[in-house]
Amino acid sequence: MEKKRILTGDRPTGRLHLGHYVGSLANRVRLQDAYDCLFIVADLHTLTTKPEKDSIALLSENVHSVVLDYLAAGIDPARSTIYLQSAVPAVYEMNLFFEMLVTVPRLQRVPSIKDMAQAANLNEESLPFGLLGYPVLQAADILMPRAHLVPVGRDNEAHVEVTREIARRFNYLYGEVFPVPDVLVSEVPSLVGTDGQAKMSKSLDNAIYLSDDAATVRRKVRGMFTDPNRVRADIPGRVEGNPVFIYHDVFNPNREQIEDFKVRYREGRVGDVEVKEALAEALNHFLDPMRERRADIEARSGYVERVLYEGTERASRAADETLLQMKKAMGLTGLWNRISRKARQSIEREERVTTGPAAPSRD
Ligand code: TRP
Repeated sequence: MEKKRILTGDRPTGRLHLGHYVGSLANRVRLQDAYDCLFIVADLHTLTTKPEKDSIALLSENVHSVVLDYLAAGIDPARSTIYLQSAVPAVYEMNLFFEMLVTVPRLQRVPSIKDMAQAANLNEESLPFGLLGYPVLQAADILMPRAHLVPVGRDNEAHVEVTREIARRFNYLYGEVFPVPDVLVSEVPSLVGTDGQAKMSKSLDNAIYLSDDAATVRRKVRGMFTDPNRVRADIPGRVEGNPVFIYHDVFNPNREQIEDFKVRYREGRVGDVEVKEALAEALNHFLDPMRERRADIEARSGYVERVLYEGTERASRAADETLLQMKKAMGLTGLWNRISRKARQSIEREERVTTGPAAPSRD
């Protein structure tokens, strides 16, 4: 039996960090067994807020780094398809048809549009049409391979809802072409930053990257925010909400060690240094297999590009097929076919008259 399909992915904005891993990558690696997975590197979506040439110039490096992070994290290109959005133009064609199936007020109600606009310093007057259309392009991404399931973070849930409405509307107007995809929202709350802020993120400069080496991880952990009231090791400390302990709970498989630390921390019988040393070790242990895969890949020049190239070719074939089915369902193929058939006949007829055999054509 054919497996069900998953489509998800990321905008290539930089290196991936531990927050990405627990929030989505771990899940994707796991889902590869049960599903046919497609992972999109959504470079076009970055243009919605950053269309300038210098931002586009950064894409090349960022695309490489995202794909390398995927592979290092355990996404297997033999089973899963990783592809570059901008290299599959059939998706922009689909995007246009889908634009007809959703209203402007519907898109204005999508909360993340306002958030993205705000983050990019855009107001109602300067909101690009393309940013309002962000969820429509995402719908084209998702419906292109006729995906059944879309694993995303909470912030993207509303985009998948728009996709579902567009799929239903298309099927209603033109006949069943698309499965209405389900959303799978990551239940893992976002990982705190090393500075204790709610979210690990590049822009807050509080991230530990999957590509950080062991010494960098140790340095970042040593500088981590802990209980600010605990100025000495013999003062009872707070474990709850303490990022050092949150990371221990997520990344350290040695439960006994964690429990021992927690007891002693609460009683003021362990120094931050000891708890942090153990955390750095656990994190490095966790990252080591990724580092090994990364080193293997980096030793094979052009391998990342090859994975992306082969994935993009597969995705392009799927996109062409879906686009053709869409146009057939819409009755759009007939229009151009009739025009081009008549045009060809006319051209042939005239060629026969001017250069053809003596016998005049009868039709
Ligand atoms: N919107 C996603 C993000 O926040 C990226 C993305 C683009 C995506 N197309 C997608 C995610 C399709 C899931 C499915 O970065």
